Amino acid sequence: MYRSHTCGELNINDVNKEVTLAGWVQTVRKFGSITFVDLRDRYGITQLLFGEELNKQLDEMPLGREFVLQVRGKVSERSNKNKNIPTGEIEILVDSFSILNKSVVPPFTIQDDTDGGDDLRMKYRYLDLRRNTVKKNIELRYAVNRSVRNYLHENNFMDIETPFLIKSTPEGARDFVVPSRMNAGQFYALPQSPQTFKQLLMVSGYDRYYQIVKCFRDEDLRADRQPEFTQIDCEMSFVEQEDILQMFEGLVRRVFKDVKQIDYSETIQRITWEEAMWNYGNDKPDIRFGMKIANLKFPQHTFPSKKNHTEIFNGVDFKVFNEAETVVAIAVPNAAEYSRKQIDELTEWVKRPQIGMLGLVNIKYNADGTLKSSVDKFFSEEKLKQIAEVANAQPNDLILILAGKEERTRKAISELRLEMGERLGLRKKDEFKLLWVLDFPLFEYAEEENRWVARHHPFTSPKPSDIETMINNNPKIENPEKYLEHPYANIKANAYDMVLNGNEIGGGSIRIFQKELQQKMFAALGMSDEEAKEKFGFLLGAFEYGAPPHGGLAFGFDRLCALLGGSESIRDFIAFPKNNSGRDVMIDAPNVIDDKQLKELNIQLSDMSK
Ligand code: AMO
Repeated sequence: MYRSHTCGELNINDVNKEVTLAGWVQTVRKFGSITFVDLRDRYGITQLLFGEELNKQLDEMPLGREFVLQVRGKVSERSNKNKNIPTGEIEILVDSFSILNKSVVPPFTIQDDTDGGDDLRMKYRYLDLRRNTVKKNIELRYAVNRSVRNYLHENNFMDIETPFLIKSTPEGARDFVVPSRMNAGQFYALPQSPQTFKQLLMVSGYDRYYQIVKCFRDEDLRADRQPEFTQIDCEMSFVEQEDILQMFEGLVRRVFKDVKQIDYSETIQRITWEEAMWNYGNDKPDIRFGMKIANLKFPQHTFPSKKNHTEIFNGVDFKVFNEAETVVAIAVPNAAEYSRKQIDELTEWVKRPQIGMLGLVNIKYNADGTLKSSVDKFFSEEKLKQIAEVANAQPNDLILILAGKEERTRKAISELRLEMGERLGLRKKDEFKLLWVLDFPLFEYAEEENRWVARHHPFTSPKPSDIETMINNNPKIENPEKYLEHPYANIKANAYDMVLNGNEIGGGSIRIFQKELQQKMFAALGMSDEEAKEKFGFLLGAFEYGAPPHGGLAFGFDRLCALLGGSESIRDFIAFPKNNSGRDVMIDAPNVIDDKQLKELNIQLSDMSK
């Protein structure tokens, strides 16, 4: 037996036991004729004491960091206790030891606060994974995995695997492709998600499916995106949207309970996509704090049912607002005393290319009720009051106003709101706020191609009340400038996203299950009948054999884990992640393949790629 106990389990009740431990050398501290060694494994750290006799042996074969060591000895009470760790009251008086393996000096320290930078940590990820902070994340991931599986199993879901080598289809992100040796000149694609397969499983009668599954998307990476990531992918038959929302509210509640010991019993708020855009400028709002957007001026067709406040600007000779499509504001609580310098800095912040605004207007709503603004020249106090009123501002608030084109300005105010929330400490890591965003638009406008694309995916069902609009109107966009006025722009989908603290952690929809409607959908996306048949003939065919009504959703497993672990970056919750250029710097992938392999695959590289 290599070990009788782990390095995390011995305590004061084990004193006098003869034990064998094995693990890695964390630290070696020599004090005259004795040596202390901290021995580490997955479970913890135990202090070893090498007495005079053994010390001589240590002189002959010194221990280094990360050596693999096996020791035999007796558990003894420590004189100098460490109350911070479970094994802190004992140490092992070592009788004998053997070095199971040596280690070269690691490139960074294996500690919570390591001296290794990101690149180094990724290159030696197997060492990074030894660090407690990373290990905790991997443990949390496994805890989420177990909790999810238990819940879904108890609710009759079946884990069914679906293939990784599939067919490249249009729509969605770019595919990763795999050449086929046996079918020269042909390629598989790696699935962006198991979407069509899970729908086929519904046709096959497996009415509750799930899979914790890898998905592959060749898209630009961000902190919350990896080229291969994991979904908790689910699908159900004979359900309406409400059944799905309830089932998966249950799932996240269970995960909170099992993993974080949090009883998330409050109602999970639901808002429509339109309300989300109106109030937060964003389809995944962070509702841990208010600071809702005040819409002073906007193109009426974007929010047909909402009230414009353009009258405020009547008779005011301020070009910036008069010429802008959209003027929006937020009232930042307790910030009226911001200095000139702070406001200048914020103005620079909104002018950065990522935000892209030309400037920032502010109104200080002073504690005494007076209003002071950067545009006092143009606005009377009465007008400023009207703005403050629409912005729902209170004394002591700082009102920040942005103006410009609708889409960009709405995005910018949303970013500014998040930034101010962050600066004011309103986005607390240990506070969790879940939200459903419902009724997404079915289509999105693709400018370069001047056509509609599916906002979610082409299998999403329109709201029943919008089916007529979809069928009775020509999808063609005659005037690209005014695409928002096309009837398709307002068609809503039976689609929903789950949002946690401003991050989309899951999304899904009720699906189209009738062949005719699915064909109409493909046509609306600009696909000819032949193309639809060629790409999705298998699904259309299956729909001829009694497809049940169905719907589902997929959670971003990595994102869910990261957020539960208090981070928005998913990399530290994945054992072997890729860097921002999609590289695995540890194994050095992607990489070239040799000519023989290329030949077998009938692939000739262009000069560019050589
Ligand atoms: P969707 O594309 O919204 O839906 O993906 C579901 C969830 O997966 C997560 N996610 C990602 N996580 C990390 N890296 C990425 N590159 C990445 N892309 C997406 C998000 C997202 O909410 N088949 C549908 C689901 C359905 O309709 O049932 C789908 O894939 O958290």
